[in-house]
Amino acid sequence: MQPTDSSDQFSDRVDACRERVGRVIADFLAGRFADPATGQDKLTTAIRYATNTGGKRIRALLSYATAEALALPFDLADSPAAAIELMHTYSLVHDDLPAMDNGELRRGEPTLHRKFDEATAILVGDALLTYAFELLAEADVHHQLRVQWIARLASAGGARGMINGQAIDLEGETRRLTLGELESMHRQKSGALIEASIDMVAAAGDPELRDCLKGFGHHIGLAFQIRDDLLDVEGSTEELGKPQGSDSENNKSTFVSLLGPEGARAYMQKELAAAKGRLSMLEQNTKQPANGLYWIADYIVSRTC
Ligand code: IPE
Ligand code: IPE
Ligand code: MG
Ligand code: MG
Ligand code: MG
Repeated sequence: MQPTDSSDQFSDRVDACRERVGRVIADFLAGRFADPATGQDKLTTAIRYATNTGGKRIRALLSYATAEALALPFDLADSPAAAIELMHTYSLVHDDLPAMDNGELRRGEPTLHRKFDEATAILVGDALLTYAFELLAEADVHHQLRVQWIARLASAGGARGMINGQAIDLEGETRRLTLGELESMHRQKSGALIEASIDMVAAAGDPELRDCLKGFGHHIGLAFQIRDDLLDVEGSTEELGKPQGSDSENNKSTFVSLLGPEGARAYMQKELAAAKGRLSMLEQNTKQPANGLYWIADYIVSRTC
């Protein structure tokens, strides 16, 4: 089943994909909020607040484009896309807390702890994280794939993935990280979920193709976070929907603080080229174009928010 827009070009269907994952998440949550007795409480209102503004949905787009590149059914990507976006949203709610980056604006709105309070922000994060696994547990796929998805998301989001990346990020406020440490931090704090958004879908396909895509995710995940570092310096708060200059304010170690904007840009372009190299290997194997993944790769390094 394809999204409503019937164009052959993934780029023409990006908005439809964004809406689609938003619907999967909303339908899932609607089932949880059905009880009028719990429908109006503070926690529910705050969970709605966190999930109503969806962001760019880059991870979901990667899941859908992966399904397309592998000629897998499009709806196979629905659960991985939605689960990763839920986990990603939780990570942002916690990332913005005073104990972490102390952000006041997220997706153009006051951060959750500013709108509500810190305890609610912690609980909303916990709830979204838990929902991500509940959603996967209910996925209508073969049980072996379902368990693989759950394990894959756990490893990407856990203490050897995103959480460790966040821990190193905080350490990088108190000492200057080396380039190797920075690269490893970025691959974990942002790369891990990006890789998983591709890999969970690829797990349903041919193992050789999955390997090609792992390489793609590895490189494009790093490029994504380097772009984020650049935007913190070069973007505008209005367009970003989050505070520009937050990294320097928090004394973060970033690609820009270590290499300067031009050095960071060159590094990002090198990662983009390596990512595209993996896509061309993929296309040689599948004998079909991976247009959606190429489009997202270019979008990741050229985006202004
Ligand atoms: C922001 O991610 C957090 C990082 C991992 C750098 P996105 O830029 O994908 O945020 P949204 O989902 O579009 O708001
Ligand atoms: C956040 O990285 C990564 C996670 C939330 C796991 P950043 O701290 O750089 O993200 P932004 O810039 O606040 O969106
Ligand atoms: Mg952070
Ligand atoms: Mg932050
Ligand atoms: Mg950032």
